[in-house]
Amino acid sequence: MATLSLRGPAGRSSRLEARRGAPRPDLGPRRVRMTTASAGGDSSTAEPDLRVRVNGLEMPNPFVIGSGPPGTNYTVMKRAFDEGWGAVIAKTVSLDAAKVVNVTPRYARLRAGSNGSVRGPIIGWENIELISDRPLETMLNEFKQLKKEYPDRILIASIMEEYNKGAWQELIERVEETGVDAIEINFSCPHGMPERKMGAAVGQNCALLEETCGWINEKATVPVWAKMTPNITDISEPARVALKSGCEGVAAINTIMSVMGIDLKTLRPEPCVEGYSTPGGYSAKAVHPIALAKVMQIAKMMQSEFSNTDYSLSGIGGVETGGDAAEFILLGANTVQVCTGVMMHGYGLVKKLCDELKEFMRKHNFSSIEDFRGASLQYFTTHTDLVNRQQEAIRQRKAVRKGLQSDKDWTGDGFVRESESMVSN
Ligand SMILES: Cc1cc2nc3c(=O)[nH]c(=O)nc-3n(C[C@H](O)[C@H](O)[C@H](O)COP(=O)(O)O)c2cc1C
Repeated sequence: MATLSLRGPAGRSSRLEARRGAPRPDLGPRRVRMTTASAGGDSSTAEPDLRVRVNGLEMPNPFVIGSGPPGTNYTVMKRAFDEGWGAVIAKTVSLDAAKVVNVTPRYARLRAGSNGSVRGPIIGWENIELISDRPLETMLNEFKQLKKEYPDRILIASIMEEYNKGAWQELIERVEETGVDAIEINFSCPHGMPERKMGAAVGQNCALLEETCGWINEKATVPVWAKMTPNITDISEPARVALKSGCEGVAAINTIMSVMGIDLKTLRPEPCVEGYSTPGGYSAKAVHPIALAKVMQIAKMMQSEFSNTDYSLSGIGGVETGGDAAEFILLGANTVQVCTGVMMHGYGLVKKLCDELKEFMRKHNFSSIEDFRGASLQYFTTHTDLVNRQQEAIRQRKAVRKGLQSDKDWTGDGFVRESESMVSN
């Protein structure tokens, strides 16, 4: 039974209230106290508080199991709750699992080092896995069972359907009946599903996305997060469409379209199935910098267009340390999802993530996640602005140096400025 109880029973009316009426925090940092403490500097003695409230959902910490193998059945989701994950997003389900046929091998890994190296640490992970191949009814029964055993913990269903209003709405109705707290829409799977006009095929087409989000939000009574594909020129465009079409949050990123490599002995691509392969989705540490850029773009857009309202952002991609998570939060993320990290390190990873995030907060004297959420967004600007700032800084440094070089350089007009340039405080 769950011990991290933070919210009341998840009745339909409370979820409805959370979806439609609860107060909405904005993206920016509200109480950034200090940002300059260094290791060994002043640390607050009070224990940092990792609890977050997102779209009315209360979580013991911001760490969420990302949709994929770590949320694929009752046993593993139960394990995630027992280990203390803030929320669990189940593996994506659709109405007819019979249409989902997986292959093996379906993963390939990239290690630091040269092609074929077997010793370096794993930095990249490609998968050509489809959405859940388990019968919908089985998954729904497991959601129900989990909500019965863990009524106070947050269980989020991930769903995907074909381009068909009736199918989407039927899936939402059936998933909501299990008592899940929210729904994440997989608009982002890069392989397999686009062939059926699903996943990234919708996330990459703003017109399709708008129409589909309309169907979804007409039906859903729990908060809806739209999961975005990074395989697009400007990720803030579909994110904007999803939010304008009624979604409460966006999650980014899903995997990046990739070819893991070519075996230089056999000349066959990896992962190799009967001698052939197909591009898959890239995840793990190697995608983290790309994910940060995408989350930053979305957060900037949300900050300027959706401020003061409760639209949430979930950062995903290559999280293995509390520091990786802090980076997403500093860019405005409310929650941080982990998928491949759990596949590599197991469910106990959440304890290390919490400890490291608290350590970071202690060093900066942050007592809550809201104390630093979005604090680094202000330091992003355009390249043109960087050039201007640098030229101005050089001009000022030169002016200072000039004033100090020799007594013959004193002038009448600039006398006060020249005097000030040599004052230390
Ligand atoms: C093997 C595997 C299967 C995945 N399956 C799903 C899925 O069913 N639905 C989904 O929305 N994302 C799926 N993902 C994407 C992850 O949820 C996540 O967005 C992505 O892997 C980046 O995060 P990470 O680096 O923490 O893994 C899958 C990822 C992996 C590695």
